[in-house]
Order: sequence, then structure tokens, then C-alpha cells
Amino acid sequence: MLYARDGKPAAGPPPAPALDPSRSHPLTPALMSDASAPSAVSMDAIVALAKRRGFIFQSSEIYGGLNGFFDYGPLGVELKKNIRDCWWADMVRRRDDVVGVETSIIMHPKVWEASGHVAGFTDPLVDCKVSKQRYRADQLFFSPVVVEGAVIGYVSALESERTTEDLQAAAETLKRKKAVQGKLEPVSPRDFTEAKPEEVPLVPSPATGEPGSLTPPRAFNMMFETYVGALRDASAVAYLRPETAQGMFVDFRNVVDTGRVKLPFGIAQIGKSFRNEITPRNFIFRSREFEQMEMEYFIHPDADWLACHEEWLRWCQDWLLSIGLPASHLSLHEHPKEKLAFYSRRTVDIMFRYPFGVQELWGIAARSDYDLKQHQQHSGVPQVYFDEATKQKVVPHVIEPAVGVDRILLAILCAGYAEEDVTDDKGNVEKRTVLRLSPRIAPVKVAVLPLLKNKEALVARARELHAKLKRNYAVFYDEGGAIGRRYRRQDEIGTPWCVTIDFETIEKDGTFTLRERDSMQQRRITEAELFQLLAEQVY
Ligand code: GAP
Repeated sequence: MLYARDGKPAAGPPPAPALDPSRSHPLTPALMSDASAPSAVSMDAIVALAKRRGFIFQSSEIYGGLNGFFDYGPLGVELKKNIRDCWWADMVRRRDDVVGVETSIIMHPKVWEASGHVAGFTDPLVDCKVSKQRYRADQLFFSPVVVEGAVIGYVSALESERTTEDLQAAAETLKRKKAVQGKLEPVSPRDFTEAKPEEVPLVPSPATGEPGSLTPPRAFNMMFETYVGALRDASAVAYLRPETAQGMFVDFRNVVDTGRVKLPFGIAQIGKSFRNEITPRNFIFRSREFEQMEMEYFIHPDADWLACHEEWLRWCQDWLLSIGLPASHLSLHEHPKEKLAFYSRRTVDIMFRYPFGVQELWGIAARSDYDLKQHQQHSGVPQVYFDEATKQKVVPHVIEPAVGVDRILLAILCAGYAEEDVTDDKGNVEKRTVLRLSPRIAPVKVAVLPLLKNKEALVARARELHAKLKRNYAVFYDEGGAIGRRYRRQDEIGTPWCVTIDFETIEKDGTFTLRERDSMQQRRITEAELFQLLAEQVY
């Protein structure tokens, strides 16, 4: 029994009913074996599609944009909402042990003192005094250039998939420039947080290529500050939340007192978080305003926290598969003990193979009783749960799966995007761009297309079906252009099915042509079968 406490076994989290084993499988090492292989898709193609088809725009674009902020267009907002809705349905509504909250973005500043964010939510910042560029020290790599055992200088490169190759190429250039003879040794990359004080002035700035302008790393707090009320002094300072998690901790007692919850139980929230990232990058992957889906799962202090952590890790992997992310792009990264966040006793990240490298998608942390104890101490209000079995008050421990909606959305676009050569009926080869999105999250589920727009009977039947489908599903009506062109438009935005109303529909048996996005196969289908298909696939 997973969460067995002394003398009283307690049930662990039941699997979400949505996760039908025929549709998703836990990740196995074999399935994950090629997770580090390079991605075939380019970020340029993803960014171009996102803009072209109205998924994502740069924020305030007409004013030149604002780095690290993005807007979601008509299709992006649907896709994002579907991700949130699926998570909420599986994480909260379909479970008996998780409840939801929505807490305020600006909280009492003492929350962030207690949580450790005021003192410790920092990234190491490096300035280039000449170019005025700023870098994250842990993303700025350098190496001594060694020829025949002697250091002839230093090279630097920003973190990328090719950091070592870039450093090696720069080392060869330096050796040539200095006309040094002898064998060049392989570079030994370190990040700038590991630079010794005497090395700092020797490392060239990535902006100028010259040494001497980089400052030693210093801690930069990533919380955005604001003022609450009319005064603008230190007493009015507040912060935009950098994580949604603290809302759940601060409301722990409120939920226990009102929610009829019993350990183990979870409190979930979806909402915006803000971090003044030093180097926002890779499109929506690392932005300054983003959305998180977090759940704090409270367990008895004597419960088997490691088993609970493992179970949530599996649940999260299964959930990603259930919304269509391929296992081949996923892998796990266990944080080494010495690099754990201050609140964590174990963290495992589910990594995704993005075009710019394998990066963190979802962090699953065992936060112990750190947060509740901190809030108990700073607020003076006991953060305890009365355990009926032992008649004792306990401070529960916490397992936290925390994921960014925007990172999932980007992963979905990258994994789903493909450019293919297809042959039409006349034997002509043409390119099609297709987004292979799961029906669960596709922004449009079905496109309804009358074969010809100048045949009143076809249009009338198509409009009737469109109106019926619209009551339950996001559907699209399109009568403009050749049918093949209309299919392509839907392929590019990830619509799983197109339904064509043709002469057989109105003159024969009422069936439609159902065209499937991925296989491009077509078959006849009745209206009842269409609704049945949607009910099964869109859950
Ligand atoms: N409460 C724990 C916490 O916030 P985190 O690893 O800092 O942990 C959780 O963040 C998740 O939020 C990450 O795994 C990532 O998916 C997302 N995330 C974090 N910073 C982000 C950023 N700057 N832009 C987009 N998503 C981000």
C-alpha cells in the first residue's frame, strides 16, 4: 500500500479515469531511448506558423515588442484553454482527492519572505560593461585555451546545443590569431559561476569578443516589484507572484477547514506567474509572464513520500502522453543532491526534446514540510492537520508537480509540426504542412465543408451540421476555395477531421465524407457515427 501509515493504510492517488491504457503507456527506458536525438523541426518554422495562423504574437508588436512577453491569438487561445481544461479535468474534477483554488497574483509581501523567495529567488547575473549586455552566468560558458600544456588565453560561448563545438572553434581561431605552434588540447567548458576570481578578467565577453569587460556574477532577484496603494515607499512594496504554489500553502488551513478533505489530498491551481528572467529566450519557452499548473499534494509526515513522488512522476508522464506528446521526445532528469532547490528533498524533471535542445518541461518536487513550517513560523498561525487515526496534530509533507502551460503548448507545436510531400489525385506532388495535434487539445475539432458553395442544398446541410456540432465542440465552417486547399488549411492548424457535405449526402444516404488529417484517408460516416467518434476522442 503506497501511503501506508503506521496501522492505517491510506489510498494513494487513483489513476485519472481519462488515462485509458490503450491510449497511453508509461514511459519505459526503451521508449525514451532516442529522447536526446536532435529534433528535426526548426524553431523558425514553428515561430512562423504560430504567427501566420494566429497562434502566438509578440506582445505590443506595433511598438517593437517587449522581450519576454507574448500574446495568444484566436487559435493559440483555444489550444491553451484546451490544455488547461484537460489538466483541470484530469487533475481535479475526475479525482476524489484533489480540489482547486484560484488565489490572488499579488499576495502579502511576507508570503515571499517566508517562502524564501525574497532572499533566495535569484539567478547569477553577469554584466558586460562595454556592450551593456547582461547574461545569466550559468548560461555563459568559457574555457582556457591550452596548447602543449600552456594556457594561451580564454574563449567564451553562450549555452546552446553546440556550446562545446563553438568553444573549440573559438580556441582554434585564438591559436591561429596568436600564431602559437603546437597541439591544441580539447576545451574544458565551465559555466561562469565556476570562474575563479583571477579568471573573470580573462574571459572574453560574448558581445565584444574581448576580455576585461565582464563583471563577477552577482545574485539578481527575479521577482517583479510593484506598490500597493497610493504610497510609493518601502512599506508599500509587493511582488507579482513568481509561482502559484504559495497560494496553495497560504490557503492550506482555509481548504482543510472548509473543503472536507482528508490526507492524502491535493490543492491545485492554474494561473499566471511572473519572473524577471535575465535572458528570456526560445520563444515562449522562457518568458517573463507565463502560466503555471501546479498541484500541492499533502501527505502524512510518516507516509512513504518517495513512493508518492514516484507515483506522481508516472501520472505526469501518462498525462503528457494522453494529450499527444510522443514518448520518443520525453526523458527524465533527476536533480543531483547538491543542486536541489532550497525547499526540495528530491526533484525529477520531465524533459522534452525541443528544437533548441532537451529542456525541462515539468518539475516534480518533494517539498517536505518546508513551506507549511515556514508560513507557520512567519505568520504565527499553526499550519497543522488533525490526524483522526493518531489524534495528533501534524504538519503534512508535500509532493508538487509544477508545469508551465506555455512550455506544454510549445512542446505540442514542436512535436506535432511536419512538412510532407503529398501526391494529389492527378499525380502532382505538393508540400503540406501539418500539425498533428491530439483531438483532446486541437483548437478546432472538425471543419465542416460543403463541396460547392454555389449549391444551396449542400450549403444548407453543411450549415445545419455546423450549428449542431457547435453546441459541444469547437468547429469551423469553410466554403471558400477548392476542397484540397481547404483540407490543407485545416491540416496546418491541426484540425483532426474534415467533414465534406457532397451530393451523396443530399441525394443518397445522408452520409458525409470524413477526411482524417494524419492519414488523409477518407470514408463515409453518418451523423450519429460522427458524434460518437467525437465523444470518444475529445475527452
Ligand atoms: N512551484 C515550483 C516552481 O515554480 P519551477 O521549476 O520554477 O518550479 C515550474 O517552475 C514550471 O513552470 C517549469 O517546469 C516550467 O514548465 C514553468 N516555468 C518556469 N519558469 C518559466 C518561464 N520563465 N517561462 C515559462 N515557463 C516557465
